[in-house]
Amino acid sequence: MSRHATLAGRLLVAAIAIGCSGEDAPGPMSPSPAAEAGSERSRILGPFLEAHWTLPIPAQGQPPAGFSKLDASLAPEDCGACHPQQLADWRTSLHADAFSPGFAGQLIEGANARPHALRACQKCHNPLEEQQPFGPGPDHLARPEHDAALRAAGLVCAGCHVRSHRRYGPPRRADLPPPTEALPHGGFEPRPEFEESRFCAPCHQFFDRKGVNGKPIQNTYAEWKASPHAARGETCQSCHMPDRRHLWRGIHDPEMVRNAVHVSWSGAELDEERLRAQLRLESRGVGHAFPTYVTPRVHLDVWQEDAAGGEIAGTRERATIGRKIDFSRGEEQMDTRVPPGGSFQLDYARPRRRGAATLVGRVTVDPDFHYRGVFQGYLPGRKDERARTLIAEALRRSQTSAYTLVELRRPLPEPLPAEAGQPGGAPPGG
Ligand code: HEC
Ligand code: HEC
Ligand code: HEC
Ligand code: HEC
Ligand code: HEC
Repeated sequence: MSRHATLAGRLLVAAIAIGCSGEDAPGPMSPSPAAEAGSERSRILGPFLEAHWTLPIPAQGQPPAGFSKLDASLAPEDCGACHPQQLADWRTSLHADAFSPGFAGQLIEGANARPHALRACQKCHNPLEEQQPFGPGPDHLARPEHDAALRAAGLVCAGCHVRSHRRYGPPRRADLPPPTEALPHGGFEPRPEFEESRFCAPCHQFFDRKGVNGKPIQNTYAEWKASPHAARGETCQSCHMPDRRHLWRGIHDPEMVRNAVHVSWSGAELDEERLRAQLRLESRGVGHAFPTYVTPRVHLDVWQEDAAGGEIAGTRERATIGRKIDFSRGEEQMDTRVPPGGSFQLDYARPRRRGAATLVGRVTVDPDFHYRGVFQGYLPGRKDERARTLIAEALRRSQTSAYTLVELRRPLPEPLPAEAGQPGGAPPGG
């Protein structure tokens, strides 16, 4: 067996560990009734959502008589003909990008070897049966008739709202006048579950038997459930779909994160000789661990800067927030994530260097830290041209998504004169 084949095998295992949490075999499309009955998943979801979130979502079948072509269409653009606001919002969201280059690129070569695993991947990223290129059953026959454009559209409107051509949505807004004529697509069935956090759980919580170090790889629903936000009645939708907007901003959006965490110097002793300071991050408006997944990293850095704005070498300290798992051993190596209402602090204590004029504290968010490593490892072994192009694009995206969340600058009193010959010395008259 070639090195590449072994590597690819390992990566697929790692991807499944993250993406499918061991549901690789037997997955929900071939449920073992004994194991499923009374499972944590069905207890939390309740009967309506348990059926609603059968993944992949069974084919819609023949449209009812009287449906126009538009009514029968599953394409988001067609929903948008009458729901333009939701379409415009959704297009900018990561749900619309769920068939991303990093996702699609990994499926291409895997498809030849393990169609079953592909269906397991796709159940969250493009969940409609109409989006699956391979059928169910032991053979997983390729389906020439599947809709490639619909597949590429990711988590589409119909994935959340349409079952057997029937529309389901939250209860109608109370401030809307009652409809005066028959509604398109046969109206809709209002369901309170659309306003509840458990609606999101099937894809954002792994209902693991064991997890790692007692916690599922993806534990967002449980983290939320135990939080003060849940106690106050703030749902996933309150924060990620305010006023029912379909934006789903998360860790990739600097404003979303800035509005939810507070960064400050919590203490400082800055004298001529020594610098002691604490850079503190408080989670005030995050409804689960910050960040909730194992994939991002958040760095706190503090360093000394000279009067010309240059970093003084050897003065930097870094502390990192995140959850690190060694997937090959199934071991958790670090979990410094900040619980809702909690805080994280970097304690800085160093001699003050000559020429130091400012103490700088910076928080950097790297949303795709883990995936960058996956793509870097996966790219070299790709033979398929399309897979290579897609993974190269995914790698590029993961290399450019990091951003500075906050930078705090603290001028130091009375800068000492610079050592002779040292660049970037003290400001004149300092
Ligand atoms: C021909 C126009 C038209 C098309 C096409 C259309 N809808 Fe609708 N839809 C409506 C109208 C009108 C309503 C009723 C709004 C109201 O309650 O006043 C509605 C209601 C809904 C509701 C319920 C809203 C609520 O208050 O809970 C959902 C959900 C919905 N549509 C989803 C979809 C999806 C998904 C698609 C595409 C697969 C789609 N619609 C296509 C016109 C359309
Ligand atoms: C239970 C639902 C679920 C399954 C199954 C799943 N994913 Fe994901 N996936 C997610 C969610 C939610 C995110 C976004 C959060 C994150 O970064 O982990 C995501 C993110 C990703 C990303 C990073 C974002 C992007 O699109 O580039 C990749 C790559 C990915 N998944 C690949 C896979 C692969 C490969 C499989 C199958 C082995 C898989 N996923 C199965 C839910 C799932
Ligand atoms: C990830 C699941 C998901 C996807 C994808 C999704 N929606 Fe929704 N949609 C919801 C939820 C949940 C609500 C209710 C939010 C709430 O009550 O706070 C909702 C509400 C609505 C409503 C009622 C809005 C209102 O103001 O009363 C309409 C109409 C609708 N969606 C249409 C669409 C259309 C059209 C698309 C695609 C362009 C779409 N949805 C994609 C989950 C989704
Ligand atoms: C059918 C599966 C599914 C459902 C249901 C679902 N999501 Fe997602 N969600 C995903 C996937 C897959 C991604 C990652 C897409 C990507 O980047 O490839 C994602 C991404 C996100 C992100 C962006 C994360 C980031 O990295 O910034 C947020 C926020 C989010 N979802 C919130 C929600 C909320 C809130 C709900 C419930 C109203 C919900 N989702 C329901 C599958 C789902
Ligand atoms: C009180 C507001 C609030 C609630 C409630 C909330 N979130 Fe978040 N969520 C945030 C903020 C702020 C971020 C950005 C910071 C972060 O990534 O943790 C975020 C980030 C995310 C992300 C990005 C991935 C990551 O690693 O952080 C996902 C996915 C997500 N939320 C899903 C959910 C789901 C699902 C629920 C409900 C079970 C939920 N959120 C409840 C505020 C909230």
